[in-house]
Amino acid sequence: MKKISIIGAGRVGETAACIIAQQEMCSEVVLLDIREGAAAGAALDISQSASYFGSDTRVTGGTDPALLKDSGLIVITAGSPRKPGMSRSDVLDINLAVINSLVDEVLKYAPDSLLLLVTNPVDVLTWHAWKRTGWERGRVFGQAGILDASRMATFMAEETGLSAKDIHPLVIGGHGDAMVPLTRFSTINGAPASAFLDDAAIARINERTRHGGAEVLALRQVSSAYIAPAAAVATMVDAICHDRRRILPCVCNLDGEYGQTDITAGVPAILGRNGIEKVVQLPLDDTERSGFQTSIDSVRADLK
Ligand code: LAC
Repeated sequence: MKKISIIGAGRVGETAACIIAQQEMCSEVVLLDIREGAAAGAALDISQSASYFGSDTRVTGGTDPALLKDSGLIVITAGSPRKPGMSRSDVLDINLAVINSLVDEVLKYAPDSLLLLVTNPVDVLTWHAWKRTGWERGRVFGQAGILDASRMATFMAEETGLSAKDIHPLVIGGHGDAMVPLTRFSTINGAPASAFLDDAAIARINERTRHGGAEVLALRQVSSAYIAPAAAVATMVDAICHDRRRILPCVCNLDGEYGQTDITAGVPAILGRNGIEKVVQLPLDDTERSGFQTSIDSVRADLK
């Protein structure tokens, strides 16, 4: 991929830009932010780390939406983050207005790009962005499940004493308190994770996973999580840039999969250079299916 633009030079945006540039996932990264100097300053700071990482990716930043021109992929992180005690849905109205105007800029300057949403509430905003573009559904998608799964991996590593590197968990549903950690589909290098965990440990892991973002926010107070979220964004960007066709949990626009239509939520999918190639359908049991339905219902409630 030649050019990737990241809208929003807040902590998630600039940290994602930093990882993408340091790993040379593309030849050019553009940061865009309405705050004068914020994107240009972050871009300059990232550029000045290039010699440590041996990276030739060019990083620039500014306030002019025309900078989006010719981007192959646009990542939207802009918007208001939640404050301690708020849910992700509490910032819906304010962020919906932001997303609508940004999608219009994307349509104007980069009508052939892919669109990756990060701004919360991510499921609902991905749905709105997709509808506004009128694009094929696989070109507009969001990040949430990779982050939720990496949190689950951290807690599983703590509970089992095993390496997080070998832990492959899965979380589906909306990126909210009703998300569904799927222990039955989680493995530790092929071995079922449940073989290493008793019911109480599984319950603790699931509970911390569902509230993973809130736990960080409650501690930090002045900032939501951004390091793990940015790494999750970079994981998706890497899969797209290198056309890896990885199976990753992504925020996808559903059209019949899992019995759901006209709704957007986290499910495993094949991610490559054209975006979401295919939603992967898992044989959920009754409990998992009903948990997924509850989570979908809360996304639908926000959508209304
Ligand atoms: C979180 C926010 C970024 O989960 O959604 O940390």
